[in-house]
Amino acid sequence: MRMSISQEFEQAYGVESGALRTFVAPGRVNLIGEHIDYNGGLVMPAAITLGITATCRLRSDRMVRLRSTGDRLAVNIDLDQPIEPQQTRGWGNYPAGVLRELLCQNVKVPGADVLFTSTLPQGAGLSSSAAMEVLTAFSFLSLANSPEIDLKAIALLSQKVENQFVGVNCGIMDQFAVALGRENRAMVLDCESLEYRYVPFALKDHVLVIMDTSWQRRLADSKYNERRAECDAVLQLLGPDAPRDGLVHASWQQVLSHVSDPILLRRARHVISEQARVEQATRVLASGDLVAFGQLLTASHVSLRDDYEVTGPHLDAIVSAALQAPGCLGARMTGAGFGGCAIAIVDQKATADFSDSVRTTYLAATNLEPAFYVTHAADGVHELAPGT
Ligand code: GLA
Repeated sequence: MRMSISQEFEQAYGVESGALRTFVAPGRVNLIGEHIDYNGGLVMPAAITLGITATCRLRSDRMVRLRSTGDRLAVNIDLDQPIEPQQTRGWGNYPAGVLRELLCQNVKVPGADVLFTSTLPQGAGLSSSAAMEVLTAFSFLSLANSPEIDLKAIALLSQKVENQFVGVNCGIMDQFAVALGRENRAMVLDCESLEYRYVPFALKDHVLVIMDTSWQRRLADSKYNERRAECDAVLQLLGPDAPRDGLVHASWQQVLSHVSDPILLRRARHVISEQARVEQATRVLASGDLVAFGQLLTASHVSLRDDYEVTGPHLDAIVSAALQAPGCLGARMTGAGFGGCAIAIVDQKATADFSDSVRTTYLAATNLEPAFYVTHAADGVHELAPGT
């Protein structure tokens, strides 16, 4: 029989007095609006039902001990010593960076033992790193009895850790979705102003299926930075005509009159067309037109494949398998690309046939066994009631 969280915690840290508190942060999918958060665009992510929990018990000293049920790494952090990134610390660098940032912001971070458990596949593009960061910030602010926890500030702090401590130059979308996601809602986030709203995302007789290619996003970080640099290069070429609030606000005519390099033209075409697709997606979702929504997802994938070139053979194979499978209204890669996961909107009644069909086609094409998760939009980071 599976152990309860408190039994697992006691196995890791021993039985002592002191209450256990458990916090949870979800992963996220991006429904549409890919590679435009760092171009000042609109994105439409949703938090998902897969996530990470942190079970915590306060200590009386200044040590933070971190363990995970998923592997044997043990990370100990002395809050009175400088906290620097360390290669040997592995996933522990995410919480370590957050603790450092909280200390810099004069939060009275308490010593604690923490046990992480996860249902979120790592390196699959479902934002396990953002979940870890947001979870650590929320847990320690709660343990420190911070009077008001500002989720937007947590998202920004977590992005800063990812950019400066972990060294990945990501945008703000993932941390925002993980912090502020809502059950049965997708978030429409303006990544320039950071204003956001929610649109209904309860699919009635359809479901959101996450398809994991089982191909890790190996190239993602280097190509990610390359794409960001290409977008900056387009802005440079636009000169005084460059929009101040990001490349998504340039017009295609402007781009055509300043840019001749075919690669840069394609990058800019993705950015501008993707923004338009997000705007359309919010309209068709509001009117409940899932067929049109599915078509926009598929069009987004084509643009990411042909113009932005961030899909790669595995994501292309799984999306193409999904589009041929029963009950599928549309499919696309989600996240940074080059591996990881894709999503599909699927008729609920056809879910099993859909997965069987995608598995067979994808396995034949790649020799890799995919994984499927049927999910729906979930709440962002929060504390679990005791005993759950
Ligand atoms: C990664 C980054 C996000 C975003 C997506 C692409 O997930 O962390 O900020 O740029 O890629 O849309």
